[in-house]
Amino acid sequence: MDPQRFSRITGTGSYLPARRVTNADLAAELATRGLETSDEWIVERTGIRARHFAAPEKGSSDLGVIAARHALEAAGRLPEDVDLIIVATSTPDMVFPSTATIIQRKLGIAGCPAFDMQAVCSGFVYALSVADSMIRTGAANCALVIGAEVFSRILDFNDRTTCVLFGDGAGAVVLESSTEPGILASKLHADGKYRDILCVPGTVSGGQISGVPLLKMDGQAVFKLAVGVLDEVAREVLEAAGRSAADIDWLVPHQANIRIMQGTARKLRLPPERVVVTVHEHGNTSAASIPLALDHAVRKGQVKKGETLLLEGVGGGFTWGAVLLDL
Ligand code: UT7
Repeated sequence: MDPQRFSRITGTGSYLPARRVTNADLAAELATRGLETSDEWIVERTGIRARHFAAPEKGSSDLGVIAARHALEAAGRLPEDVDLIIVATSTPDMVFPSTATIIQRKLGIAGCPAFDMQAVCSGFVYALSVADSMIRTGAANCALVIGAEVFSRILDFNDRTTCVLFGDGAGAVVLESSTEPGILASKLHADGKYRDILCVPGTVSGGQISGVPLLKMDGQAVFKLAVGVLDEVAREVLEAAGRSAADIDWLVPHQANIRIMQGTARKLRLPPERVVVTVHEHGNTSAASIPLALDHAVRKGQVKKGETLLLEGVGGGFTWGAVLLDL
C-alpha cells in the first residue's frame, strides 16, 4: 500500500423532501390517535423543531441520487468518474438489489462496485471508513459515499416516544484519492448484545411480514450508552491521528438529540458554537444525518476547506464510530 496515498472529500451534497412537518403538525396528528405531545416537550428533550417526510412514492434511492448529483457537481465530477458507490441506509428501496445499485442506474453508470452499508445511524461513518480503506489500497479513486433514509416508513405513529424523533433525507460526499490527507483516522465499533434497545424487529418471510417492522427504542438506555461511547471513540480516533481535541475545528455529530451532541462537545472541551447542528430542522435522519449536516455547514460557509472535522455516529446494533479528517 502506498503510504503517500490518502482519501479526501472533494464535494458534498444533500437533499430534503419538500414536506416539512413541524412539532405542532405532528402533535395535531398524534392527537387524532389519542396521543398527547407538544412542541415544548420535543424541543426541550431533543432540540427538534421540524423534520421532513418523503412523499409515499419516493424511496431512499430517490433522495440519495439527488444528494449524490449535488456532491458530484460540487466536486466538479461527472457520474462517469465514479468508481465506487457505498450507500448507508436502514431503509433500502427493496430487500434486494441494494439501494446503491439502484442509485448507480439512476446516475446512468455501470460497472463500478456498488453496495449498501447497514450500520443504522453509524452507517455513514462506517461507509466513509470503508471507502477510505478502498481508496488507500488502490481499489478505488473516486467514491460516492451516500447516507439516505426514509425513516418515516418504519415509525410507529402510535408510539409518541419514538415517532417524534425521526425524519427523512439524504447526504453524500465525493471521496477521492489524494497525495494529501484527507481522512486522518477512523475507528469503528459494534456490540450486538444491545440489539434490543434500538431495533426494527421484523422482516419478510414466505411473502408475509414476520415480527413488527416498526422502530422500537429504549430511549434512556440508548442515551446513556451513546454519551459514553461517543466520548471514548472520539479520544481513540484523535490518538490514532496523533491529534488532540484542541485541533478540532468542528464536531459534526450524528444528529439525534441536542443534549447528546452538547454533552459530547463538553467532554471534549469544545465550545458549543463549534458543533454543527441541524437536528432542530431535520430530526434524526439516521445514516443521512452526518452528511446532511456537513453539506449544510459547507454550503452556508460555516465549515471551510482546510479545517479539521470530527464526524461521529452511534446507533442500532449497537454500533458506533468516528472519522477525523481535514476538509
Ligand atoms: O439515532 C440513534 C440514537 N438515538 C438516540 O440518541 C436517542 C437517545 N434518547 C433520547 O434522545 C431520549 O431518551 C428521548 C428523547 C428519546 C427521551 O427523552 P428523556 O428525557 O429520556 O425522556 P423519558 O423517556 O425519560 O420520558 C420522560 C417523560 C415520560 O413520562 P413520565 O413517565 O415521566 O410520566 C414519557 O412518557 O416524557 C414522556 N414522553 C413524552 N411526553 C410528551 C415520552 N415521549 C413523549 C412525547 N411527548 N413525545
